[in-house]
Amino acid sequence: MKSRKITITILVDNQTHEGLHAEHGLAMWIEADGRRILFDTGQGAALASNAQALGVDLKDTDMLVLSHGHYDHTGGIPELLRQSGKVDVYCHSGVVQPRYAIREGRPKPIQMPTKAMAALDRLPSQRLHWIRQPTWLTEDIGITGFIPRGSNYEDTGGPFYLDPEGRYADPINDDLALWIRQDDELVVCVGCSHAGLVNTLNYIRDLNHGQRIRTVIGGFHLLDAGSERLERTISALTELEPETVIPCHCTGDNAVAMLRQTFGKAVLPGAAGMIFQF
Ligand SMILES: [Fe+2]
Ligand SMILES: [Fe+2]
Repeated sequence: MKSRKITITILVDNQTHEGLHAEHGLAMWIEADGRRILFDTGQGAALASNAQALGVDLKDTDMLVLSHGHYDHTGGIPELLRQSGKVDVYCHSGVVQPRYAIREGRPKPIQMPTKAMAALDRLPSQRLHWIRQPTWLTEDIGITGFIPRGSNYEDTGGPFYLDPEGRYADPINDDLALWIRQDDELVVCVGCSHAGLVNTLNYIRDLNHGQRIRTVIGGFHLLDAGSERLERTISALTELEPETVIPCHCTGDNAVAMLRQTFGKAVLPGAAGMIFQF
């Protein structure tokens, strides 16, 4: 029997179609296996208006999944929880911690905004699910929890630290990804791929007995990647033979151009307002 249809709408992205709000952030609306899942929330300013313009009613949200704790994925939590009814939230416990990006000696706080942490704190404890290990949300939808770092050429992709002085590197262990199974193939959603895109995809494939990853959508965080990492990432992707690659958010222009060179029309650069049906 053919599995039910999957629809993914990009609600928030750095790029957008006319009439929608663009921001540095990511949020995707996933309709699959009878559930409506918000995967990340963007920074907050774009979520509600873009959802409304796209005919997505946030009050229908069954589950909120947070890919990791950066502000550009979690700032919309208060708005989502204000609009939605009984939503279950799934995230790694590491999403709530101070963290910084330090560039040219200047620390920028990039943690989950205080209001978002407070909104999570107000949730009844049975609706807040701290995830460390692979977890099935439904029969066909899973999330990874912590993603093992197997490749030797992928790091977090940026100057991330747990302290403003830069003494303690932030390994972003809270980074997780989601997969949806359909007809023994997988559609994978990633937030920023801070665990490494190849680490993430290999782990999900291993968790699913080697099933083919047909589509990957989300931020690949390759904007600071050197040529060796880019080349090895693309060669690993080539081995996976995906049908569609949808780079969004923090993938980086250079990486998108290289992906297009390799995969041609299979690469569809993402933007808020795009709707994919599988
Ligand atoms: Fe991000
Ligand atoms: Fe991030």
